[in-house]
Amino acid sequence: MNRKVSKAIFPVAGLGTRFLPATKSVPKEIMTLVDRPLIQYAIDEARAAGIEDFIFVTSRGKSALEDYFDVSPDLEAALESSGKTELLETLRNTNMESGTIAYLRQHKALGLGHAVSCARKLIGDEPFAVILPDDVIAAEKPCLQQMVEAYQETGGAMVATMEVLPTQTSSYGILDIASQDGPIVSVNGLVEKPALGAAPSNLAVIGRYILTPQVLDNLDNIGRGAGGEIQLTDAISAEVAAGRNVFGYRFDGQRYDCGSKAGFLQATVAFALARAELHDEFAAFLADMHAVKQAAQ
Ligand code: UTP
Repeated sequence: MNRKVSKAIFPVAGLGTRFLPATKSVPKEIMTLVDRPLIQYAIDEARAAGIEDFIFVTSRGKSALEDYFDVSPDLEAALESSGKTELLETLRNTNMESGTIAYLRQHKALGLGHAVSCARKLIGDEPFAVILPDDVIAAEKPCLQQMVEAYQETGGAMVATMEVLPTQTSSYGILDIASQDGPIVSVNGLVEKPALGAAPSNLAVIGRYILTPQVLDNLDNIGRGAGGEIQLTDAISAEVAAGRNVFGYRFDGQRYDCGSKAGFLQATVAFALARAELHDEFAAFLADMHAVKQAAQ
């Protein structure tokens, strides 16, 4: 099969309950790290990996996402006439060319696997990427680009993976490892949210995938899994059962779970400190906070 990966699915139809009440009216993916919404980080990563077609699986209440990617002629004109060229450039980078972005709806939050299967007709017969925007990965070479390069060698289906603490395995899809060769892990199967103590390893699946159309076929057949949801992990595991290769890729970078409050706050601190114009003031503030806390103890 052709190994060019030019399409990416962004499943953004989840309810985002961990951020209520904010997510009552603001989609989680529009929440902001420093000055850019989560979705912008995901789009930039996809572009760096050579993605040309962007498919959003959305749901009711997510129209702010569509507006975000639209052109804003009034704002652009105002910035242009006031000579704010740098801001204008930043703003224009958020525009998506007509025809490169598609939105479709998942009418019921039946799980990540179900959300991905909603994009079936737009994928055709080629490999595709899946990016979960609430997993933000800071890396010198963007994570999906690392994976696309590895995928040129391996083919098969590939999931981003990282080690988690044994106490955390029950919150993730976990790899059953067959063998490892550098960053590439060959797998015997994947288990979604195994019970504590029953995880086959501590390598967890993180929100970046390169998948084949067969995985979409599997999604039609697997039925509901952990939590009563149609699980993408189960459809990938079915590839192994069908005798096809599945790989984990230990990416180089720092992942932040921006679907959780603690992860989102950690990402905010890390991304703010990484910005030259904010670093000194923010680092001084953090040092002061630390000193105050130490003094109180
Ligand atoms: P999460 O497990 O983080 O769920 O979904 P969630 O609904 O977004 O957030 P909480 O747990 O209620 O706070 C992981 C990814 O899968 C998408 C989500 O949008 C997110 O990108 N997803 C999940 C769907 O698109 N549809 C679903 O039915 C479930």
